[in-house]
Amino acid sequence: MSAKTKGGAVVTGAARGIGRQIAEGLVADGYGVVIADLDPTTGEATARALTEAGATEAIFVKVDVTDRATIKAAIEACRLRFGSLNVMINNAGFNKPEPFLEITEKTWRAILEVNSLGVLVGIQEAGKAMIADGIKGKIINTASIAGRTGFPDFAAYSVSKAAVISLTQAAARALAPKGITVNAFAPGVVATPLWEQLDKDLYAMGASAAPGEAMSSLASQILLGRVADPKDVVGTVKFLWSEQSDYMTGQVLVIDGGMVLQ
Ligand SMILES: NC(=O)c1ccc[n+]([C@@H]2O[C@H](COP(=O)([O-])OP(=O)(O)OC[C@H]3O[C@@H](n4cnc5c(N)ncnc54)[C@H](O)[C@@H]3O)[C@@H](O)[C@H]2O)c1
Repeated sequence: MSAKTKGGAVVTGAARGIGRQIAEGLVADGYGVVIADLDPTTGEATARALTEAGATEAIFVKVDVTDRATIKAAIEACRLRFGSLNVMINNAGFNKPEPFLEITEKTWRAILEVNSLGVLVGIQEAGKAMIADGIKGKIINTASIAGRTGFPDFAAYSVSKAAVISLTQAAARALAPKGITVNAFAPGVVATPLWEQLDKDLYAMGASAAPGEAMSSLASQILLGRVADPKDVVGTVKFLWSEQSDYMTGQVLVIDGGMVLQ
């Protein structure tokens, strides 16, 4: 299998949503892909579907990004199956809204553990594997417009994504001498299970007047007039894993339909 691929890629949080769409793009572009996710049922099904549809192969490895050993195992599976780790996408993340004055330590720690520490560990283990194999690879992190501006009902999430932007910059400086680039992309509002849950949670806590209203009121602030489909982000991420972006590192590309203009 490795002879037919451009190399290997690991995508965390790829069972569904944005990560799945990115994994599909990598398979279509000729990479062997590890679907690295907490959810084995959806993850296995995604790996099967992408393999059936694509020219290359996707395999599932159960990963909790807060557990370094599982990230190492996913990267090792990628090297064994596809020969090397060429692209690492640190994408797993979640959100849980709480009114600003009621944010709990438990929520803060849970969100920062997955969204920020998980990205640090993913960058570290990918960097070590690429250096060991002499690969001038691409590390790409999923940030968010919430990392560029603070949202009061999900302040911990905003902090966790600002951390992703800082980690992208720090890692770019650390890994440039080895020829490894580190960039991030920052989506706006993307219609995925994460947002379906967020919309329900915001309604339940009284932050929106009706189900669906939180999402539609945000959509009204988007210059292009609609929320994103996961497919809307893939072209930009493909640019970041392709040789077209070889001279870019430490950057964050915003894909939000024109919502946060900064
Ligand atoms: N949907 C949006 O509007 C939006 C906007 C900006 C950024 N993002 C970011 O994009 C990324 C993907 O979001 P999505 O909307 O596709 O979410 P999603 O909930 O649809 O998918 C997230 C996936 O990550 C997995 N996951 C969660 N915690 C994990 C962990 N600890 N270890 C491994 N896997 C884990 C889940 O099982 C799931 O398959 C997240 O980092 C999110 O913060 C999403």
